[in-house]
Amino acid sequence: MNSSRLSAAPRMHEPKTHNHLLGDHDALAKAMDTDGYWLFRDVFDKDAVARLRKVYIEELVKLDVIDPIDVDSAAKGIRYNGRGDLKAMPIHMEPLCDRHAAQTFLAEKPIHDFMVKLLGEEPFWKPVVEYRATVPNPDDGIKQVTGWHQDGPPTPGVDFITMWTPVADIDWDIGGITFGEGLTDPVNRMRIDETGTNKGIAAETLPEGVWCHTTYRPGDVLFMNRWTPHSGLTNTSDRFRLSFDHRVMRPGSMRPLVGEVISCTPTRIEVKDDVIGAKAVRIDTSTYARTTLHQRIWGQKIVDEFPAGSRVIVGYDKGDVATVVRPTHQFDPVV
Ligand SMILES: [Fe+2]
Repeated sequence: MNSSRLSAAPRMHEPKTHNHLLGDHDALAKAMDTDGYWLFRDVFDKDAVARLRKVYIEELVKLDVIDPIDVDSAAKGIRYNGRGDLKAMPIHMEPLCDRHAAQTFLAEKPIHDFMVKLLGEEPFWKPVVEYRATVPNPDDGIKQVTGWHQDGPPTPGVDFITMWTPVADIDWDIGGITFGEGLTDPVNRMRIDETGTNKGIAAETLPEGVWCHTTYRPGDVLFMNRWTPHSGLTNTSDRFRLSFDHRVMRPGSMRPLVGEVISCTPTRIEVKDDVIGAKAVRIDTSTYARTTLHQRIWGQKIVDEFPAGSRVIVGYDKGDVATVVRPTHQFDPVV
């Protein structure tokens, strides 16, 4: 994370919990529109989370940054062993992606059943995953936010919900996530640079008194409205912060195309969608085409970024104009 994005952590309060709304889809939709999040306690099967945690443990042991630890003890957090090179850690924990850790977890029956109950339909996962094993930095004792942003503006026209779940305990020292309560106006609060790229939210533009944080434990899960501002918090503990986040479509919303590029020009892209097959949409100046590193691109760079055979997410409107063209991220089919 770029340290220039750090800013002082604001005052925070405990969030609401939404367990009592499970099964009431109208009330859940209203809460997502007004609170801007759902926080559920102790709903994800803990054995399934433990199996996911085991994959994190194995990869961190291979990197020699932790000593071997049993999966149950690790639920309380895993200490850095002081030996391995933290600066050499893979930024996106790519070994977890290579092992399809997310797909395996989401396919676990209790996890899948919970998602179907929550949404009232089969979940459609937008193929964007982040595995996080945020390194401890106990010397940096002042709690800071790592970068205010919204998840929605960099993927416009796609009505998804962000899912964030702890893989081991995440307390105040470890940091975790802070998010704004009730900031659900469909407004892009992010700065936009000269290339049209969304660059994060200036801390001074955000209100006070709305920020939530709590201790998150395995089995808990947070879902956020795509307009809800949020940020990570610096990890001032001696333990790793283990979490995983993903994106699921809001129930009943229009799905983006997800599949392989058939052809791409600066004004048109055709995709072999995994479900509906070939479909072409137009690209115009309103289309947010971007790289996986969040850079907005235009013209020939779009053609270069999306060669035939590459996997993409393409949101589009009712007039078949692409709202967003972007690569998938760490969640491709298991072959
Ligand atoms: Fe985010």
